[in-house]
Amino acid sequence: MMLSSLLLCLLVNVFDIRALAAQPNNLGSSFDGNYAITWGNNYYLDTTTRTLVNKSFITRLSFFFCFIGSGFGSKLSYGSGLFHFRIMLPAHDSAGVVTAYYLTSHGAHHDELDFEFLGNKEGKPYTLQTNVFTQGQGNREQRITLWFDPTTSYHAYRILWNPYQIVFYVDDTPIRVYKNKTNIGVKYPSQPMQIVASLWDGESWATDGGQTKTDWTQAPFKAYFKGFNISGCPSYNSNIQHCYSSKIWWNRYKYRSLSRNEEKLYEVVRDKYLNYDYCSDRSRYSITPPECPHQ
Ligand SMILES: *[C@@H]1O[C@H](CO)[C@@H](O)[C@H](O)[C@H]1NC(C)=O
Ligand SMILES: *[C@@H]1O[C@H](CO)[C@@H](O)[C@H](O)[C@H]1NC(C)=O
Ligand SMILES: *[C@@H]1O[C@H](CO)[C@@H](O)[C@H](O)[C@H]1NC(C)=O
Repeated sequence: MMLSSLLLCLLVNVFDIRALAAQPNNLGSSFDGNYAITWGNNYYLDTTTRTLVNKSFITRLSFFFCFIGSGFGSKLSYGSGLFHFRIMLPAHDSAGVVTAYYLTSHGAHHDELDFEFLGNKEGKPYTLQTNVFTQGQGNREQRITLWFDPTTSYHAYRILWNPYQIVFYVDDTPIRVYKNKTNIGVKYPSQPMQIVASLWDGESWATDGGQTKTDWTQAPFKAYFKGFNISGCPSYNSNIQHCYSSKIWWNRYKYRSLSRNEEKLYEVVRDKYLNYDYCSDRSRYSITPPECPHQ
């Protein structure tokens, strides 16, 4: 990376954040109450944290990096919920840049539910990859092409997680379903998970399998997040049984399977926008993974 572009990157961001902090905001959902900055690789993020001192007035977080990456996470972990962010992804040439939003329980035997937005050359569509880890085992990638430009407006990305099913939504469209099939021996997430968001350099794999590299003259890469209120069941230790209660709204009957209309939308996505599914990757799995026929 050239020194001049790095300096320019740093400079641009100081101004950007000041402008953001100065703009009037609606109160309500607070970043400060639910989340904290967890990762930043250089002094540059210090600038962010300092300028965002009065974070309760920030309803939009502008997130960026000049190299390596940065991230934030929820202060608590959760045992079920309908998690959401509204996100606007890095624009222009974002090849190599990964914006991730996921739930994770950490550790070697962790559970994890991932949204990974894989940047692309300007004018080429973003790929959205999802993955499900249970007790440390992932390798359940699916990829779709988004049917809109996610860099010019905010869209809602949600994860429903209850004892019956996990559903990934893009706006109101379910794009992936992972059902609780523990009755046939398929593992299902069962540990408290933290909500994490990050923006980082994934040029070794993210775009065209790593063939297309990050263009650092395009830095800073920026993602914008909104919607910091959390509909989740907090868990303070490893026991999340209380989060399975049918008194919690996202555990009710309505949320135990897709509605008729959601099923239709889901089928359209699978027909038109799915471009990779581990379930049908014979070179990887000669025997279809047991969870696949049931989703
Ligand atoms: C919390 O988030 C949900 C989902 O985006 C939204 O409908 C609701 O209005 C939000 N509540 C507050 C207090 O911001
Ligand atoms: C944040 O700013 C508002 C408006 O200026 C002020 O009323 C409030 O006390 C500040 N909060 C903190 C924690 O500084
Ligand atoms: C999965 O479903 C079974 C009932 O089939 C239930 O007993 C169990 O608690 C659920 N597991 C999780 C981790 O939600």
